[in-house]
Amino acid sequence: MLFPCDVFGSHYCDDRMYDDLVGDFSHEFEVCYRGIMGPFKDKMLEAIDKIKDLEIDVICPSHGPILRSDPWKYVNQHVEWSTLPASEAKSILIFYASAHGNTKMMAEEIAEGASVEGVEVEVFDLTETAPGEVVDRIEVADALIIGSPTFNGDAVKPVWDLLSSLTTTKLRGKVGAAFGSYGWSGEAVGMIEDRLRSLKFKVPEPGLKSTLVPTAQELESCREFGARIAESL
Ligand SMILES: Cc1cc2nc3c(=O)[nH]c(=O)nc-3n(C[C@H](O)[C@H](O)[C@H](O)COP(=O)(O)O)c2cc1C
Repeated sequence: MLFPCDVFGSHYCDDRMYDDLVGDFSHEFEVCYRGIMGPFKDKMLEAIDKIKDLEIDVICPSHGPILRSDPWKYVNQHVEWSTLPASEAKSILIFYASAHGNTKMMAEEIAEGASVEGVEVEVFDLTETAPGEVVDRIEVADALIIGSPTFNGDAVKPVWDLLSSLTTTKLRGKVGAAFGSYGWSGEAVGMIEDRLRSLKFKVPEPGLKSTLVPTAQELESCREFGARIAESL
């Protein structure tokens, strides 16, 4: 019997106690992994390496169903979740929110400029992307470029939602950058940069702002901005 404390646990209890009696608990099982163990994937793999030669009949975590039907199924699930895909290419993720399409135009041009050989670029509209869906992608990305317009002296909520979801994600050493369209004061870009720095991103490139609808020249600056960030990787 393995007593692994928090690992292989779920955040609930059920009077029926055993995994083969409680019904489908795959969601709770995964939520517990993502929230507690997910940020420590390499430690997870080291720990599983220590138990790999044991004969295990039952896993008794400190909470959640007791795993007796097929204990290795649960261990292997953790191996799968903790093994990040290896990629030769560098990857840049661009996240933005945009009410009137101005910051979106910037995002698209930055993506075009950053799309050079050996660099994969993906663009996400944060009004259609829940932070929880992309945290794993962020963990394996090399750079994050985040765009927000300024509304009432602030960055917009979908952008703050993303930035506040990263506290348990391994980010140190990744490149971060900010951009956005504004009307007169343009605070959002600086606020995003401050947050990126406090999350331990490197922010090598000063944030890029354009006023209202970007001009052809500003769009060219966006492409150059994207290209410089790609180059820095
Ligand atoms: C309700 C509202 C509040 C705004 N507040 C600010 C502001 O505080 N500072 C600023 O520089 N621009 C402000 N703007 C202007 C927007 O930042 C500007 O229109 C920007 O181009 C919008 O970008 P988007 O198309 O990506 O949404 C405001 C616009 C609106 C509609």
